[in-house]
Amino acid sequence: MSTVFRPGRADEVAALVELEMHSFPNPGRDAAWWEDFVLRGPHGGVESLWVGEEEGRPVAVCQLYPKLQWIGGAALPVMGLGAVAISPTRRRRGLAGRMIQEGFRHALERGDVASSLYPFRVAFYSGLGYGLGGTAHQYHVPPDQFPDDREARDRLRLVSTAQDEAAMRAVYARGARHETGQFERDERSWRSAWPGTPDHAGMLCMGDDGQPEGYVIVRYRADLPLTQRYLEVEERMWLTPRAQRAIYAFLSSVADQWREVLYRAHPDELFVEQLSEPRLPLLAEPGWRLWFPSAVVLRGPMFRLLSVPAALEMRSAIPGGAITVMLEVQDAQIPENDGPWRLRIEDGRMHVERGTAGAYDARFSTNVETLSRIYLGAITPGQAVGAERATIDRLDALPALNTAFRVPRPWTFERF
Ligand SMILES: CC(C)(COP(=O)(O)OP(=O)(O)OC[C@H]1O[C@@H](n2cnc3c(N)ncnc32)[C@H](O)[C@@H]1OP(=O)(O)O)[C@@H](O)C(=O)NCCC(=O)NCCS
Repeated sequence: MSTVFRPGRADEVAALVELEMHSFPNPGRDAAWWEDFVLRGPHGGVESLWVGEEEGRPVAVCQLYPKLQWIGGAALPVMGLGAVAISPTRRRRGLAGRMIQEGFRHALERGDVASSLYPFRVAFYSGLGYGLGGTAHQYHVPPDQFPDDREARDRLRLVSTAQDEAAMRAVYARGARHETGQFERDERSWRSAWPGTPDHAGMLCMGDDGQPEGYVIVRYRADLPLTQRYLEVEERMWLTPRAQRAIYAFLSSVADQWREVLYRAHPDELFVEQLSEPRLPLLAEPGWRLWFPSAVVLRGPMFRLLSVPAALEMRSAIPGGAITVMLEVQDAQIPENDGPWRLRIEDGRMHVERGTAGAYDARFSTNVETLSRIYLGAITPGQAVGAERATIDRLDALPALNTAFRVPRPWTFERF
């Protein structure tokens, strides 16, 4: 049976809603909810629909969200992949894989240089060239474990007006570009990050000049049975150490209301250093003889380069000594990415040319999944070689390569 892949249309929304409802059954989500999601979802609407059709009927659908993702000082145009749904009678014959592969072409044509997603199964997407990138350390902490700072705490105010909301968005916009993996947000994506429902609260930290310096969004988990309730930190961003202290101090002040705070820290936040008792609640996780568990490692986001040369040219590199590498890439889905490429890293930029002409310092060979993880800062070139996911003919070239690709470790607050 031949399948045609094409952009979706508003006039077929009923058939697409049916596919989504069979793929993500949820008593809280009726056809009207899905119709709104498909046509006006938080990360993209009808323009992002990508459909597989057989004999005139949609049998597969997903969304290819047009997004901008901050990596290496550049806002890359990326395709966010979500809501992948295959008709229950059309599974396990390669349809999802083919739909996504055709989706890569569509995304490349509209100018996307990479793609991001959250997997239902990691192995499925690594087979399509995606690599894991993004780590958070999840802590359950009694509030009094957070360090208090009365002076910093006095600078906080509740997000309650349109101006407060604008201030929160401004902090995010300034902070996201200095992290790796965060997305530019528009009106729609802010609606999902900050729903403004009574179970959410936002706190802004204001500087001396009246400018916002940080914010935290928390969720009151009062929906849980009394003994299991906690305060959940959904996201936080700070532009100054004082705002970081203010957010921790706020969380230290809620002990009369909440027994526990669920906090997800960036691995380089060194959050554990804040805690006098960095220990998960007893029996939450097994220990290791005298070792106790401190946090749970969360993973999720996956990333894939769609255009190796365009993505490399867009990002910055840490300035160091100039280095030229013969980059050999294997890409089973997008053969245009297959190497060799001549990658010259100089003056904080990466320059890419096709072919092997000219002298080079080392030959580095890997597949697109590993290159994507290196690009995102999830692993270094040296770690990739150590794990036998890449080869290099001159080990002494590795330190310069490691430096050039260095970015803050990736994570993202966006979920799609
Ligand atoms: C998850 C889902 C999208 C997969 O769709 P699918 O079309 O069955 O996926 P594919 O056929 O491309 O691949 C699935 C597996 O079937 C295997 N497969 C492909 N063709 C096959 C064939 N002819 N015979 C047997 N198995 C086959 C693939 O190898 C793959 O297994 P692998 O990952 O171990 O290699 C689909 O089951 C679905 O809609 N599930 C519910 C919604 C969901 O979870 N969506 C994803 C979250 S965004």
